[in-house]
Amino acid sequence: MTPDSDASSWRRFPILQQPSYPDAGQLADVESRLRALPPLVFAQEINDLENQLGAVAEGRGFLLQGGDCAESFAEFNDDKIRDTFKVLLQMAIVLTFAGRRPVTKIARMAGQFAKPRSAEFEEIDGVTLPSFRGDIVHSADPDTAARVPDPQRMLQAYHQSAATLNLLRAYAQGGMADLHEIHRWNLSFVDSSPARERYLQMSERIADALGFMEVCGITSETAPSIRETQLFTSHEALLLNYEEALTRADGFSGKRYNCSAHFVWLGERTRQLDHAHVEFFRNIDNPVGVKLGPAVAADELLRLLDTLNPDNRAGRLTLITRMGAALPEVLPALIRAVEREGRRVVWSCDPMHGNTVKSSTGYKTRRFDAILLELQHFFDVHAAEGSYPGGIHLEMTGEHVTECTGGAYRISESDLATRYRSSCDPRLNADQVLELAYLIADTLRDRVPQSFVDPTSAEEKA
Ligand code: PEP
Ligand code: CO
Repeated sequence: MTPDSDASSWRRFPILQQPSYPDAGQLADVESRLRALPPLVFAQEINDLENQLGAVAEGRGFLLQGGDCAESFAEFNDDKIRDTFKVLLQMAIVLTFAGRRPVTKIARMAGQFAKPRSAEFEEIDGVTLPSFRGDIVHSADPDTAARVPDPQRMLQAYHQSAATLNLLRAYAQGGMADLHEIHRWNLSFVDSSPARERYLQMSERIADALGFMEVCGITSETAPSIRETQLFTSHEALLLNYEEALTRADGFSGKRYNCSAHFVWLGERTRQLDHAHVEFFRNIDNPVGVKLGPAVAADELLRLLDTLNPDNRAGRLTLITRMGAALPEVLPALIRAVEREGRRVVWSCDPMHGNTVKSSTGYKTRRFDAILLELQHFFDVHAAEGSYPGGIHLEMTGEHVTECTGGAYRISESDLATRYRSSCDPRLNADQVLELAYLIADTLRDRVPQSFVDPTSAEEKA
């Protein structure tokens, strides 16, 4: 291995969006303690995910990625983890059943702590403070002393991630995800929600299908996929001291994996080609994502693809567009460049980060209609270009929050204060997510072909 291709080579590059720790000795001590801790995920799981994403890139599946904008140390309990797990699973079942394709599920959980910020400082109640960069860095308390970066928090983030992952694995494999149970998952839908009736009908049809399969000898015991599922984890790999410390060489394959999560992504603010984050991502073998805002140019994107995926592995790269209203003008040129160069990618749509607005009452919010419109544009543009719209990336929660306006509850700007819990960006609540799931599922079923690869070209590629 060449010396510049190890997990620490990012340190020689310019870097953005990092905390400045007051005590370098303390930081080094925490890093060495993290290096000695067990990995959170394993190489085989990471490979499984890359294979699944490879199928998605070819149109043989759909990617659902979602969870908090930022996890927090204070809001950490089993109810919260369970509710978000359930909503992800309900959404995946809707997409599988109504959308007619297998769904790869990745949670923005068990490590989604560090936040990039557009401004160095923020003002809270008239006081100017260093912007909040996530609980892994410092406390959100509106107090200058609390905002001093503390490396010990990386250890707390690691342990919270381990506990979260432990529960997610138990839910995925311990019976909670059994398809026989889906009608029992508490439905939070309002009576007027169009999603409610459809969800109940779908549960009945699944129950019928399971009953029939049982008579044919296909049961939870004989077919484990009826009773368990696979849920992968992800976060933005922003705080590179933490990410490097959890990166391990796999003795078996010689590959280097960031074992803090199965999937990590590069944020819109840290994807400069000659900077530290791209260098770090270039040196890990996980499947990775790149956020793409409306200002990205096609040649810049191609250079990112060359750097991050020189072997053109089908499941390695997920391009997560987050363009807001600019999507119809910007996305076609990007798709054409990628297609022209024969690059294999998963195209995923984050309809959240290009649609953040400030409400008249001062809350950061997003309109359900704007989110939906960006998704519709995403599907329309891919249909027009003949490419495959492979996934969605949402900020969402199973809690009854009032953070995004609109949806069946018709949350208005004046309702936002009722249950606004996010420590960062506004999330869709369970009802809004399910409403969205049906709209996407209908589009997938009616308008998006099942596979974009004919068998001959698949063989040629192999
Ligand atoms: C995020 O996903 O929370 C985020 C900060 O995204 P982006 O880099 O797209 O702004
Ligand atoms: Co966010």
